[in-house]
Amino acid sequence: MTGSDGQVDLQGFLARERERTEAALDRALEDILPRIPGSLAAAVRHGVTSPGKRLRPILCVAAYRAVGGMGDAIYSLAVSLELIHAYSLMHDDLPCMDDAELRRGRPTTHRVEGEEATVVAGALLIPAAAWQAWEGGASMGLAEERRRLLVEELSRAAGGGGMVGGQFLDLLGEEKALTAAELDDLHGRKTGALLRASLRMGGIAGAATPGELAALDRYGEAIGLAFQIADDLLDATSSAQALGKNPSDAELGKSTYVTLFGLEEASRKARGLTEEAVAALRSAGLEAPELEALAWFVVERER
Ligand code: IPE
Ligand code: IPE
Ligand code: MG
Ligand code: MG
Ligand code: MG
Repeated sequence: MTGSDGQVDLQGFLARERERTEAALDRALEDILPRIPGSLAAAVRHGVTSPGKRLRPILCVAAYRAVGGMGDAIYSLAVSLELIHAYSLMHDDLPCMDDAELRRGRPTTHRVEGEEATVVAGALLIPAAAWQAWEGGASMGLAEERRRLLVEELSRAAGGGGMVGGQFLDLLGEEKALTAAELDDLHGRKTGALLRASLRMGGIAGAATPGELAALDRYGEAIGLAFQIADDLLDATSSAQALGKNPSDAELGKSTYVTLFGLEEASRKARGLTEEAVAALRSAGLEAPELEALAWFVVERER
């Protein structure tokens, strides 16, 4: 969605992509919800349909298009990433984790639906997401080998070496001063892995060449880290009203880029990573104005 001046209308692009993503999420829920008890369904619906940015599916679709992918079936694959993300937030907010009462401008899922339903609803979204990736690949007409690769990417990113492992390191690190290398590893896992997988899955679904996939991978790794630095910066400088969630890193004793480097250096690092992400695309010859605009959105966003 570029204007005559070659500039991306980012707000228009995000609004349109969010709408398409949410339509695909609703279709995924139509498959998931009828199989489960009503009170559990309410918790799933609360966690999945609350108003998030939908950045991971949007990145997946943008990567797919950047390598020449066509058509709209990609959204049904892309929402598998959002199902994992939604569950990660439902669990992240639980009292035994970050103990948060506000998420996306609303009371958190366990505050509304209770802790038991939230734990179980989150857990059931993990196999549901794997199934969604498998079936999403089928609806795109992809061969089984490529569908298997997509499920593998999602599972690895969500698993012990990725998001879940990072979340545990995050909890272990409370009230400790982590080193920069430890924090890079933690952030790369808890947040970076799923963002990186979003780009890789879009590339794989769109039959990216090895060079294109390597560039998407490098872009994903860089913006994955930049995304969590921006999250840490916002936590340190913004308000619950602006963010739709309560700043809590200081209270929970988390090591962040802000505690380690200070606001200015953390912000410089995030912007440097964004420049690296854009350079990776360009050096592979990928013309992707939407991905470039999304990279800047990651560090310039206000929530
Ligand atoms: C928040 O992610 C959790 C982190 C990984 C830092 P987002 O900022 O993408 O959350 P939503 O989906 O837009 O609410
Ligand atoms: C959470 O990081 C990352 C996840 C995998 C959910 P944070 O704990 O910093 O996320 P927010 O700030 O609560 O959204
Ligand atoms: Mg957390
Ligand atoms: Mg949190
Ligand atoms: Mg945070």
